[in-house]
Amino acid sequence: MDAFQIQGGHTLSGEVIVSGAKNAALPILCACLLTDQPVTIKNVPRLRDINTCLRLLGSLGVQCFWLSENTLTLRAEQVAEPLAAYDLVKTMRASVLVLGPLVARFGEAVVSLPGGCAIGQRPVDQHIKGLQAMGAEISIEKGYIHAKSKRLKGCRIVTDMVTVTGTENLMMAACLADGVTVIENAAREPEVVDLANMLVAMGAKISGIGSDRLEITGVEKMRGVEYSVMPDRIEAGTFLCAVAACGGDIRLSNVDPKSMDATVEKLLEAGLSISAKGNSMAAKMKKRPKAVNLRTAPYPGLATDMQAQLMAVNCVAEGTSMVTETIFENRFMHVQELQRMGANITVEGNTAVIQGVARLSGATVMATDLRASAGLVIGGLTADGQTLVDRIYHLDRGYDGMELKLQALGADVKRVSQT
Ligand code: UD1
Repeated sequence: MDAFQIQGGHTLSGEVIVSGAKNAALPILCACLLTDQPVTIKNVPRLRDINTCLRLLGSLGVQCFWLSENTLTLRAEQVAEPLAAYDLVKTMRASVLVLGPLVARFGEAVVSLPGGCAIGQRPVDQHIKGLQAMGAEISIEKGYIHAKSKRLKGCRIVTDMVTVTGTENLMMAACLADGVTVIENAAREPEVVDLANMLVAMGAKISGIGSDRLEITGVEKMRGVEYSVMPDRIEAGTFLCAVAACGGDIRLSNVDPKSMDATVEKLLEAGLSISAKGNSMAAKMKKRPKAVNLRTAPYPGLATDMQAQLMAVNCVAEGTSMVTETIFENRFMHVQELQRMGANITVEGNTAVIQGVARLSGATVMATDLRASAGLVIGGLTADGQTLVDRIYHLDRGYDGMELKLQALGADVKRVSQT
């Protein structure tokens, strides 16, 4: 198992080219199931989750080829068996994104229930409820969702909460349904917008894109497309947090600053100076960050996927802050590890109170989920001495070459093999 060995205390300077967004690329790859024509996707990040998605699509009979480092071509002429097996779904919950497209185009899908997850329960009841409302017959047998429908029918769906992949699954299914589907309380995340724009380019009829009310008029057939995935706002935000915590002067290219408002606002409050021009951003930090209170919320609120990284900044900030997590019930697992590095954090329910310390101290810590790992890496970059972040495979799910990008900024980070 790989770990990151970090010698902390270096300021960061230089440029990072931000990769394509994992959370946009995954639904976009699954959308290839909606057409029998070839789909070419550019700006695909090279990640473990993307490989898992390609294995899943491959197992369904989709032909997938890399045309170059970040460009993929996929063709779902037919599917062999519309089955997403437990082995793949358990390693990546987003595998459930094949459910909507499979039932919509092939009239049938068998998809494993994702099961437990480190950061919370994360049920998929809203995906199921929405498909049932569209006329799918759904049963749960032996841990699998069995969904069947001759042709889905347009209807009005009001989701109980804002769900990102739930909105994406139902929007994809509605594209090939008979009639008009309205999704109320839809997620407005930029990744949902990116998928919607791709679906429109494939011939879908969607209005209300970017709002919480999507109206989708079903079409008989969709066509192939060439589409480029949006930049990863969470990866970009992670590098901004790193420079806010370590100090320095960095430039990010291939970013979409508009998608990052909430994170940028918090980091400005922390004292980071940020400027954006076109698709690049510059960030400078000359002093110790100031503590900032934050509360995660669905977009346009602050992304839960930025919580751990911002908490790491607060750990070394001047003052006391409160961090409240409202999306997932168990997303504070980085707290215990940050405490092992000398952070002063107390947790009460879904709120963490952080009393900033001047310096963390290097320790061996364990990554527990993707974004928690990023928080620990930032902790290690600021710490006195050596930090070993173990189980870095979590980080590899969502960060494309993070150690290389950090090295280019002057950080002392090495990937090492742990036995
Ligand atoms: C997506 C992102 C993930 C991000 C999360 C919240 C992808 C691949 N992953 O995950 O990185 O942290 O959005 O922004 O895009 N819920 C239910 N029932 C459902 C669906 C969701 O109760 O059927 C609950 C969840 O348990 C959670 C909340 O709704 O508490 C939001 O979850 P959701 O937006 O669905 O997260 P994901 O789409 O899984």
